Amino acid sequence: MKKVKVAILASGRGSNFKAILKEINAGTCNAEINVLITNNPDAPAISIAEENDIPVEIIERKFFTNREDMDVKIKEILDQYEVDLVVLAGYMLVLKGKELLEAYKNKIINIHPALLPSFPGVDAQKQAFDYGVKVSGVTIHFVDATLDAGPIIYQEVVDISNCKTAEETAAKILKIEHKAYAKIVDSFSKGKYIVDGRRAKYILD
Ligand code: GRF
Repeated sequence: MKKVKVAILASGRGSNFKAILKEINAGTCNAEINVLITNNPDAPAISIAEENDIPVEIIERKFFTNREDMDVKIKEILDQYEVDLVVLAGYMLVLKGKELLEAYKNKIINIHPALLPSFPGVDAQKQAFDYGVKVSGVTIHFVDATLDAGPIIYQEVVDISNCKTAEETAAKILKIEHKAYAKIVDSFSKGKYIVDGRRAKYILD
Protein backbone atom coordinates (compact mmCIF):
# COMPACT_ATOMS: atom_id res chain seq x y z
CA MET A 1 0.00 0.00 0.00
CA LYS A 2 1.25 3.46 -0.94
CA LYS A 3 2.26 5.71 1.95
CA VAL A 4 0.50 9.07 2.27
CA LYS A 5 3.00 11.86 1.69
CA VAL A 6 2.28 14.44 4.34
CA ALA A 7 3.19 18.07 5.00
CA ILE A 8 2.67 19.23 8.58
CA LEU A 9 1.81 22.87 9.24
CA ALA A 10 2.38 23.81 12.87
CA SER A 11 2.99 27.00 14.84
CA GLY A 12 3.73 25.71 18.31
CA ARG A 13 4.46 22.77 20.51
CA GLY A 14 3.76 20.08 17.90
CA SER A 15 2.41 17.30 20.10
CA ASN A 16 0.04 16.14 17.34
CA PHE A 17 2.94 16.16 14.87
CA LYS A 18 4.93 14.05 17.34
CA ALA A 19 2.03 11.66 17.90
CA ILE A 20 1.63 11.08 14.16
CA LEU A 21 5.38 10.42 13.84
CA LYS A 22 5.15 7.93 16.70
CA GLU A 23 2.39 5.98 14.96
CA ILE A 24 4.33 6.09 11.66
CA ASN A 25 7.39 4.68 13.40
CA ALA A 26 5.26 2.01 15.09
CA GLY A 27 3.89 0.98 11.68
CA THR A 28 0.31 1.91 12.56
CA CYS A 29 0.11 4.98 10.35
CA ASN A 30 0.98 4.35 6.71
CA ALA A 31 2.43 7.76 5.94
CA GLU A 32 5.68 9.68 5.62
CA ILE A 33 6.20 13.27 6.64
CA ASN A 34 8.01 15.07 3.85
CA VAL A 35 8.16 18.56 5.33
CA LEU A 36 7.26 20.69 8.34
CA ILE A 37 6.09 24.20 7.46
CA THR A 38 5.87 26.72 10.25
CA ASN A 39 5.22 30.44 10.53
CA ASN A 40 7.00 30.55 13.89
CA PRO A 41 10.81 30.36 13.97
CA ASP A 42 10.63 29.54 17.70
CA ALA A 43 8.12 26.70 17.40
CA PRO A 44 9.13 23.65 19.47
CA ALA A 45 7.79 21.60 16.52
CA ILE A 46 10.99 22.52 14.67
CA SER A 47 13.20 20.45 16.95
CA ILE A 48 10.85 17.47 16.56
CA ALA A 49 11.35 17.72 12.79
CA GLU A 50 15.11 18.11 13.11
CA GLU A 51 15.41 15.10 15.43
CA ASN A 52 13.59 13.07 12.79
CA ASP A 53 15.49 14.40 9.74
CA ILE A 54 12.39 16.09 8.37
CA PRO A 55 13.02 19.26 6.33
CA VAL A 56 11.75 22.48 7.93
CA GLU A 57 10.47 25.47 5.98
CA ILE A 58 9.94 28.65 7.99
CA ILE A 59 7.47 31.01 6.32
CA GLU A 60 7.07 34.10 8.46
CA ARG A 61 4.17 36.49 8.02
CA LYS A 62 6.40 39.57 8.30
CA PHE A 63 8.16 38.80 5.02
CA PHE A 64 4.96 39.08 2.96
CA THR A 65 2.85 42.13 2.18
CA ASN A 66 -0.35 40.11 2.50
CA ARG A 67 -1.64 36.69 3.53
CA GLU A 68 -2.48 35.72 -0.06
CA ASP A 69 1.21 36.01 -1.03
CA MET A 70 2.23 34.08 2.05
CA ASP A 71 -0.08 31.23 1.10
CA VAL A 72 1.24 31.23 -2.49
CA LYS A 73 4.67 30.54 -1.00
CA ILE A 74 3.22 27.71 1.10
CA LYS A 75 1.61 26.24 -2.02
CA GLU A 76 4.96 26.34 -3.85
CA ILE A 77 6.57 24.38 -1.02
CA LEU A 78 3.75 21.81 -0.96
CA ASP A 79 4.15 21.37 -4.73
CA GLN A 80 7.90 21.03 -4.38
CA TYR A 81 7.57 18.24 -1.79
CA GLU A 82 4.80 16.56 -3.83
CA VAL A 83 2.56 15.97 -0.84
CA ASP A 84 -0.78 14.16 -0.94
CA LEU A 85 -2.09 15.53 2.33
CA VAL A 86 -1.59 18.74 4.29
CA VAL A 87 -2.07 18.24 8.02
CA LEU A 88 -2.66 21.34 10.13
CA ALA A 89 -1.46 20.55 13.63
CA GLY A 90 -1.79 23.68 15.71
CA TYR A 91 -1.20 26.04 12.77
CA MET A 92 -2.39 29.33 14.18
CA LEU A 93 -3.10 31.23 10.95
CA VAL A 94 -6.25 30.74 8.90
CA LEU A 95 -5.31 29.73 5.35
CA LYS A 96 -6.55 32.52 3.11
CA GLY A 97 -4.89 31.99 -0.27
CA LYS A 98 -7.45 31.09 -2.94
CA GLU A 99 -4.80 29.49 -5.11
CA LEU A 100 -3.63 27.26 -2.25
CA LEU A 101 -7.16 26.32 -1.14
CA GLU A 102 -8.20 25.48 -4.71
CA ALA A 103 -5.09 23.47 -5.58
CA TYR A 104 -5.31 21.47 -2.35
CA LYS A 105 -9.11 21.25 -2.11
CA ASN A 106 -10.06 18.30 0.13
CA LYS A 107 -6.38 17.63 0.75
CA ILE A 108 -5.95 19.90 3.77
CA ILE A 109 -7.17 18.67 7.15
CA ASN A 110 -7.33 20.26 10.57
CA ILE A 111 -7.95 18.99 14.07
CA HIS A 112 -10.10 21.00 16.45
CA PRO A 113 -10.34 20.24 20.17
CA ALA A 114 -14.16 20.38 20.43
CA LEU A 115 -17.22 18.95 18.74
CA LEU A 116 -17.81 21.45 15.93
CA PRO A 117 -19.85 23.51 15.32
CA SER A 118 -19.66 24.03 19.09
CA PHE A 119 -16.75 26.10 20.37
CA PRO A 120 -14.89 27.11 17.19
CA GLY A 121 -11.80 29.33 17.25
CA VAL A 122 -9.16 29.54 19.96
CA ASP A 123 -9.35 28.08 23.47
CA ALA A 124 -12.06 25.61 22.50
CA GLN A 125 -11.37 23.44 25.55
CA LYS A 126 -11.70 26.43 27.91
CA GLN A 127 -14.86 27.54 26.12
CA ALA A 128 -16.35 24.07 26.65
CA PHE A 129 -15.23 23.90 30.29
CA ASP A 130 -16.54 27.41 31.07
CA TYR A 131 -19.86 26.62 29.41
CA GLY A 132 -20.22 23.59 31.63
CA VAL A 133 -20.89 21.01 28.93
CA LYS A 134 -20.62 17.38 30.06
CA VAL A 135 -19.16 16.15 26.80
CA SER A 136 -16.87 17.78 24.31
CA GLY A 137 -14.45 16.08 21.96
CA VAL A 138 -12.37 16.17 18.83
CA THR A 139 -13.27 17.10 15.27
CA ILE A 140 -11.13 16.45 12.21
CA HIS A 141 -12.34 18.32 9.16
CA PHE A 142 -11.33 19.47 5.71
CA VAL A 143 -10.09 23.03 5.52
CA ASP A 144 -11.74 25.57 3.29
CA ALA A 145 -12.09 29.36 3.38
CA THR A 146 -14.33 29.18 6.47
CA LEU A 147 -13.05 29.16 10.05
CA ASP A 148 -13.32 25.65 11.53
CA ALA A 149 -16.32 24.89 9.33
CA GLY A 150 -15.11 22.67 6.47
CA PRO A 151 -16.71 19.24 5.86
CA ILE A 152 -16.32 16.96 8.86
CA ILE A 153 -14.25 13.79 8.47
CA TYR A 154 -14.31 12.44 12.01
CA GLN A 155 -15.61 13.24 15.48
CA GLU A 156 -15.03 11.61 18.82
CA VAL A 157 -16.79 12.40 22.05
CA VAL A 158 -14.81 13.01 25.25
CA ASP A 159 -16.54 12.97 28.63
CA ILE A 160 -15.32 16.08 30.46
CA SER A 161 -17.91 16.01 33.24
CA ASN A 162 -15.30 15.18 35.89
CA CYS A 163 -12.67 17.68 34.71
CA LYS A 164 -11.94 20.29 37.37
CA THR A 165 -10.10 22.86 35.28
CA ALA A 166 -9.82 24.00 31.66
CA GLU A 167 -6.27 22.60 31.65
CA GLU A 168 -7.44 19.17 32.75
CA THR A 169 -10.10 19.31 30.03
CA ALA A 170 -7.49 20.20 27.40
CA ALA A 171 -5.18 17.39 28.53
CA LYS A 172 -7.96 14.80 28.38
CA ILE A 173 -9.00 15.91 24.89
CA LEU A 174 -5.37 16.08 23.67
CA LYS A 175 -4.82 12.37 24.41
CA ILE A 176 -7.75 11.53 22.15
CA GLU A 177 -6.51 13.95 19.47
CA HIS A 178 -3.19 12.15 19.25
CA LYS A 179 -4.73 8.75 18.47
CA ALA A 180 -7.49 10.11 16.26
CA TYR A 181 -5.27 12.26 14.03
CA ALA A 182 -2.84 9.44 13.21
CA LYS A 183 -5.78 7.11 12.53
CA ILE A 184 -7.31 9.58 10.06
CA VAL A 185 -3.98 10.27 8.32
CA ASP A 186 -3.62 6.49 7.92
CA SER A 187 -7.12 6.24 6.44
CA PHE A 188 -5.97 8.33 3.45
CA SER A 189 -3.64 5.47 2.48
CA LYS A 190 -6.49 2.95 2.39
CA GLY A 191 -9.28 4.92 0.79
CA LYS A 192 -10.62 8.34 -0.04
CA TYR A 193 -13.15 10.86 1.19
CA ILE A 194 -15.81 11.92 -1.28
CA VAL A 195 -17.07 15.36 -0.35
CA ASP A 196 -20.66 16.10 -1.24
CA GLY A 197 -21.81 19.43 0.15
CA ARG A 198 -21.17 19.33 3.88
CA ARG A 199 -20.65 15.56 3.97
CA ALA A 200 -17.36 13.71 3.62
CA LYS A 201 -18.04 10.05 2.92
CA TYR A 202 -15.23 7.53 3.24
CA ILE A 203 -14.76 4.88 0.57
CA LEU A 204 -12.17 2.12 0.91
CA ASP A 205 -9.92 1.56 -2.14
C1 GRF B 1 -4.39 21.07 19.47
O1 GRF B 1 -5.20 21.12 20.61
C2 GRF B 1 -5.24 21.11 18.22
O2 GRF B 1 -6.49 20.51 18.39
C3 GRF B 1 -5.39 22.58 17.97
O3 GRF B 1 -4.16 23.15 18.32
C4 GRF B 1 -3.53 22.33 19.30
C5 GRF B 1 -2.17 22.02 18.80
O4 GRF B 1 -1.41 21.33 19.75
N1 GRF B 1 -5.78 22.84 16.59
P1 GRF B 1 -0.02 20.68 19.33
O5 GRF B 1 0.84 21.80 18.77
O6 GRF B 1 -0.30 19.62 18.31
O7 GRF B 1 0.54 20.14 20.60
